[in-house]
Amino acid sequence: MAARLPDSWLDELRSRLNIVDVVADYVALKPKGRRYWGLCPFHNEKTPSFSVDSEAQMYYCFGCHKGGNVIHFVMEAEHMEFLEAVQMLAERAHLEMPERVNAPQEAGQRELREKIYEANVAAAHYFHDLIWTEEGSGVLSYLHKRGLDDAAIRRFGLGAAGHGHDGLVRHLCGQGYDMETLIKAGLCGQKDGRRYDMFRNRAIFPIINAQGRVLGFGGRAMGDAQPKYLNTSDTPVFNKRQGLYALNFVKKERGLKRLILVEGYMDVVSLRQMGVSGVVATLGTALTEEQARLIKRYAPEVWVSYDGDAAGQKAILRALDIFEEQSMPARVLDIPGGMDPDEYIRAHGLEGFQALKPIQPVEYRMKRAADGLDMTTQEGRTRYAIACCELLRSVPNPVELENYLSRLSVETGFEKEVLLSQVGRAQPAAQRPRAPRPRLIEKDEPLADFERAERALLSMMAAQLIPSDLLRVDDFENPLNREIAALLMGGFTPAAALDKLKDDERAQAARILQDAPPVEPGKALAMAEDCMNRMRRHQLEMRIEQAKQQLSQAQGEERKATIALIQRLMQELELAKTGRKE
Ligand code: GTP
Ligand code: MN
Repeated sequence: MAARLPDSWLDELRSRLNIVDVVADYVALKPKGRRYWGLCPFHNEKTPSFSVDSEAQMYYCFGCHKGGNVIHFVMEAEHMEFLEAVQMLAERAHLEMPERVNAPQEAGQRELREKIYEANVAAAHYFHDLIWTEEGSGVLSYLHKRGLDDAAIRRFGLGAAGHGHDGLVRHLCGQGYDMETLIKAGLCGQKDGRRYDMFRNRAIFPIINAQGRVLGFGGRAMGDAQPKYLNTSDTPVFNKRQGLYALNFVKKERGLKRLILVEGYMDVVSLRQMGVSGVVATLGTALTEEQARLIKRYAPEVWVSYDGDAAGQKAILRALDIFEEQSMPARVLDIPGGMDPDEYIRAHGLEGFQALKPIQPVEYRMKRAADGLDMTTQEGRTRYAIACCELLRSVPNPVELENYLSRLSVETGFEKEVLLSQVGRAQPAAQRPRAPRPRLIEKDEPLADFERAERALLSMMAAQLIPSDLLRVDDFENPLNREIAALLMGGFTPAAALDKLKDDERAQAARILQDAPPVEPGKALAMAEDCMNRMRRHQLEMRIEQAKQQLSQAQGEERKATIALIQRLMQELELAKTGRKE
């Protein structure tokens, strides 16, 4: 994403903004030392561990370990993509987006989108107002019958599409909306000069995004009319493969530990009315990759809770695959008795729903592996055991594996050892393929001495306490430190460097870069030298270790040469330790 905008333009944007001002719109900040401190907007806390460094123009939270520059802050706070956040900041800084300058058709497109949003808001009001009238009374009583109360109907802005064929079209045209916009918004159609509404005699669920914009609508038929659900067709502002229902609520829910993904609009409204937070749904299609990535932005984990029928079960398996591809931790909230989440919570209440325990994907897949097999026969049990062992290959944790194997052994009658060898390894500890896991940056793990030295150097470079050409990129051993060094030495400002790093490295880099040791400017060089010495010692130690390994295989001349090398390296190490130069 970042690559599409010129670095120089991004530098200009950042230079016009002060991260402290931007963050202050979201967080009350107090200055302390070089930094500003406040309560982290990204997790719940009572004492401030969120810091903003006005010099480095970065933020970092010591509690939840999020960090970045001003753009990343807006991405995180507004749940935006890079480009969206940049657009918002550019407006704030009164800086024109670079691509837009010579793109009149893009301006036209933007205007159309704005008009569609406006028409959608007007339509949402129309539907919602109608539900309280005689014409909407059928829909209202339908929603009441399904257990929704008026408060939920208001909160979700639910509405009614009337019986007539053109109530909305007449209303909106009367308000001055032009037909072309209404057609492009997917609200109305026109045939042989006759204008008609798309939604007729349906309960209306407005689909609102995280920025509060009405993207489109889902309409539930009354009774058995077909199709049961009608969604707005794709428009310049709506793509049912990309959005999620109820994101507007999620946006306001802080520090969610998980999202719950359900299939239907009714499930969302019903669960939320009962008090379950963080519930979203796809928009009438199976989960897409885009939606999985969107979900990833809002919580560290997702619980898939689809209908308990066969279609729902199949869809769960597909959703798990998609989340796995996106490295998004997912579990399954399997609804018993073939019910929908909506039916289940109405039958068992909030407590009953909360008592459901989410299960791991592998456990769910094992459950499904029994489908269609007759477990009363030896053949059925054998095929089930083989399928499960296949699945268990992905379990990285021996203790967990042991657990599943015990259960499988009881279910199938096979000895655990037999099952284990079927899984494909003699011992759980032996080498096995690890399931792909999101790469987590170490948090407060103790650092090796050389890594502390590397970090100190990087932060001093960032704070311009030492020149960045004091050392070479190769002097850095830790891969992330090396990447940061390359950026700083390549002339990037610390804040700009963060744009170039991967998502999972950025926060750590922000932490490193704003963590300059409290050193007087005159003493910085001496401190840097000490750091470089510690790094050098580590490199020597590593090379000695390597040479020793070689030695165990070497013969004759090579052996002599290796011994000589080790001796030389050890001398160098001795010198480095006593602090003298070679
Ligand atoms: P209720 O019967 O009202 O409880 O519906 P539900 O929430 O149980 O819906 P269902 O499980 O039938 O479907 C889940 C979701 O799939 C719905 O919310 C819609 O988004 C979508 N869906 C269902 N039926 C249709 C359909 O006929 N057409 C389209 N486009 N989407 C549908
Ligand atoms: Mn359903």
